[in-house]
Amino acid sequence: MSVVAVLPETEVRQPIVGANGYLTVNLSALSRNYAKLSTLVAPAQAAAVVKADAYDLGAQRVCSALYGAGCRRFFVAQFDEAVKLRPGLAADANGLQPGDEEACARFDIIPVLNSLEQWRRWSGTANRRKCNLPAALQFDTGMSRLGVPPEERSTFAAELAGQARVEILFIMSHLASADELDSAQNNDQLVEMKRISKEFPHLDICFANSGGIVLGRDYHGQLARAGIALYGGSPSTSKPNPMEPVVEPDVAVVQTRKVPVGARVGYSGTHIAERDARLATIAAGYADGLPTWPNTCVWLRKRRSDRLHLCFASKIPMT
Ligand SMILES: Cc1ncc(COP(=O)(O)O)c(C=O)c1O
Repeated sequence: MSVVAVLPETEVRQPIVGANGYLTVNLSALSRNYAKLSTLVAPAQAAAVVKADAYDLGAQRVCSALYGAGCRRFFVAQFDEAVKLRPGLAADANGLQPGDEEACARFDIIPVLNSLEQWRRWSGTANRRKCNLPAALQFDTGMSRLGVPPEERSTFAAELAGQARVEILFIMSHLASADELDSAQNNDQLVEMKRISKEFPHLDICFANSGGIVLGRDYHGQLARAGIALYGGSPSTSKPNPMEPVVEPDVAVVQTRKVPVGARVGYSGTHIAERDARLATIAAGYADGLPTWPNTCVWLRKRRSDRLHLCFASKIPMT
């Protein structure tokens, strides 16, 4: 699909010459999703995760829309993503890789420190520059991914107490199963987060992702970090999705053909025509992010078609 993102506040679609389709990113829906999540976490604040170019929707415009909706804190995964948002916006980068320290300080980027080693490099940078630098601290509460492991916590607390140049803005951790309401891992991580909070008293807590927001107040801390729900994805696997869709792909039918009853359609002939039929092939497939699992559906001239079969392009029975 030659898709070019069109980002109208107005939702007016602008066909682009040479494109077989286009993606409409509804910034108004994005802002409403942010407002909804903010209401759910109030009085805590909601931050936006805008990594990977805001999930490929264009971080600059996504951030501008979210800023307009009241969002004041943005999280990215990579340091260079944070640099790209400068000078307009400040973003918090997940981790501080060796060699990034000076640029991080110069661009006023807040690193989320994930280890003692990262912490030491950052406080060394503050000492060398003879200035105060901000940071967030991430702890591993049971996902075994990023964050300070339990055995480093006491050393961390001692070193933190003995320095004055790094200002810790908040402590954070990431939930592994928050979209599963009944997962015991949620409570296990919450218990661990509360333990950490006692070891680092007086620091704000940043804990909930989208799923954590719907898990309830206990998970909210002072700052939540929403990703998927902002963009219209469901924060929970077992509840109806309360978020508004933000992204709508619209693709051209590039060929239609008649096939007789019994014709095999698509890869592995997964569909056998039950009657003589007319098929439409659209210019999109899994490379464009179109899900290929069986319940994928499309709307054809406002009529829903549940049969989408993965071929080189996708074929939709029309009649
Ligand atoms: C550290 C961290 N926080 C927050 C998020 C956002 O999570 P979600 O998309 O479930 O809201 C992510 C997403 O991967 C993440 O890695």
